[in-house]
Amino acid sequence: MELGSMTKLLVLRVSTKTLTGGIPPSLGNLSLLIYFSVAYNNLEGNIPESIGHLKSLSAFGVAVNKLNSMVPSSLYNLSSISAIDFVFNQLSGALPANIGLTLHNLKLFFIGENEFFGPIPGSLCNASKLQILDLGRNNFVGSVPTNLGYLLDLEHLRLSYNNLGRDLDLTSLGNCSKMESLIFKSNQFEGVLPNSIGNLSTQLNALKFGGNQISGIIPTVLQNLINLNSLEMDENLFIGVIPTYFGKFQKMQGLDLSGNKLSGQIPSSTGNLTQLVQLNFSRNNLEGSIPPTIVGNLKNINSLDIFENNLSGEIPTTIGNILNLEELHLQGNSFEGIIPSSMAYLKGLELLAVSRNNLLEFIPKGLEKLLFLKYLNISFNDIEGPLPIVGVFKNVDATSVIGNNKLCGGIPQLQLPKCPKVTKSRKSLAS
Ligand SMILES: *[C@@H]1O[C@H](CO)[C@@H](O)[C@H](O)[C@H]1NC(C)=O
Ligand SMILES: *[C@@H]1O[C@H](CO)[C@@H](O)[C@H](O)[C@H]1NC(C)=O
Ligand SMILES: *[C@@H]1O[C@H](CO)[C@@H](O)[C@H](O)[C@H]1NC(C)=O
Ligand SMILES: *[C@@H]1O[C@H](CO)[C@@H](O)[C@H](O)[C@H]1NC(C)=O
Ligand SMILES: *[C@@H]1O[C@H](CO)[C@@H](O)[C@H](O)[C@H]1NC(C)=O
Repeated sequence: MELGSMTKLLVLRVSTKTLTGGIPPSLGNLSLLIYFSVAYNNLEGNIPESIGHLKSLSAFGVAVNKLNSMVPSSLYNLSSISAIDFVFNQLSGALPANIGLTLHNLKLFFIGENEFFGPIPGSLCNASKLQILDLGRNNFVGSVPTNLGYLLDLEHLRLSYNNLGRDLDLTSLGNCSKMESLIFKSNQFEGVLPNSIGNLSTQLNALKFGGNQISGIIPTVLQNLINLNSLEMDENLFIGVIPTYFGKFQKMQGLDLSGNKLSGQIPSSTGNLTQLVQLNFSRNNLEGSIPPTIVGNLKNINSLDIFENNLSGEIPTTIGNILNLEELHLQGNSFEGIIPSSMAYLKGLELLAVSRNNLLEFIPKGLEKLLFLKYLNISFNDIEGPLPIVGVFKNVDATSVIGNNKLCGGIPQLQLPKCPKVTKSRKSLAS
């Protein structure tokens, strides 16, 4: 049966990954259609102009297809629409300036991962039912409208990977008391983090703005956002210390401050973040030793990244208690002493990078037995003695040991000197 002849259809939903070709213009004949969803297929071509005939359409979903061309302006005229999902296509065009007036029933607007361009229309503030606004991964430019605070139901605002900037004005968003996530990674925001960040909703659980040029210190008011479980402010220009109050973020699971210019010590209050799964403080100017609280309390961590700082002292033996640890990046610091033998307890360890430190002595016994260890870099230290030939040490591409002048043995491809024969004589034991 032809699609265009099913004129009484109310709901059309196909997500079997089987549809190919284009959306037929005869779609416009289904004048009673309320719900159209063809997500996860292989549709290509454009959205037909005739979509504008569907005066009852409430939801239009075409996510994850290969649709391209400009979205016909007739679609932006359908005042009945409450949900649009264009995510992951190659759709383009500028959003009409009056979009928030014509689509005044819009609740969900997902257009991320397309090729939309131009400014974000200020009229979106008139679509007062908006709950989710996802404009990420497009080519939007200019400033973010300063009136989004009228959207009192807004829960998620996603603006990442565009060319938005440069001022960061969060004042109005403080009115959005239901806001749960605010994401504006990889744009061109600059200047200091305004104190109005502390007036965002305490409901906020995800705040991500890595990859901008935001500078200055981390403001005290950030501590108001007590329910954060994910905070990403990596790849910016922050200076000063990591505030002690970070220890108050009891729900924190992912904390990324990497790639800034932070200095001072890692606060020992970090050890209060017992839900933490990923901690990334790498590529800053942090100094001092690893606080014992971190390795003592953070049992859930699976990725600990503190590489390329000025950290020193010994790697705590208690690191062997972080049983979920999968990746440990300590390279490019001034750690001294030995690689703790407790590392051999980390059964899930996949990556261990300790290169460019001042580590001494032997490789701890048992590392070669870690079944998941796929990558080991101990290069440029003063580690000595025999190198195992099994486990991770068996694979020349997985192991980097150069720059340790007293290593011996190992697989032939590493071209290390032979180890001197050890004679286990009773005499020498007794003496
Ligand atoms: C449906 O729409 C197409 C093009 O929009 C039109 O040519 C056709 O006559 C319409 N009717 C049916 C039953 O397909
Ligand atoms: C949108 O609706 C208005 C008013 O109903 C109408 O004048 C205009 O032609 C429509 N535009 C499109 C592209 O359908
Ligand atoms: C859009 O919303 C703003 C702020 O609430 C309001 O001042 C303006 O009158 C609205 N525009 C229209 C056309 O309703
Ligand atoms: C937000 O709230 C402030 C004061 O609480 C108010 O002055 C402002 O008009 C509100 N609306 C916007 C969009 O900022
Ligand atoms: C923002 O929060 C500060 C306290 O952190 C408060 O003094 C100020 O009145 C708040 N501003 C608004 C507009 O709510």
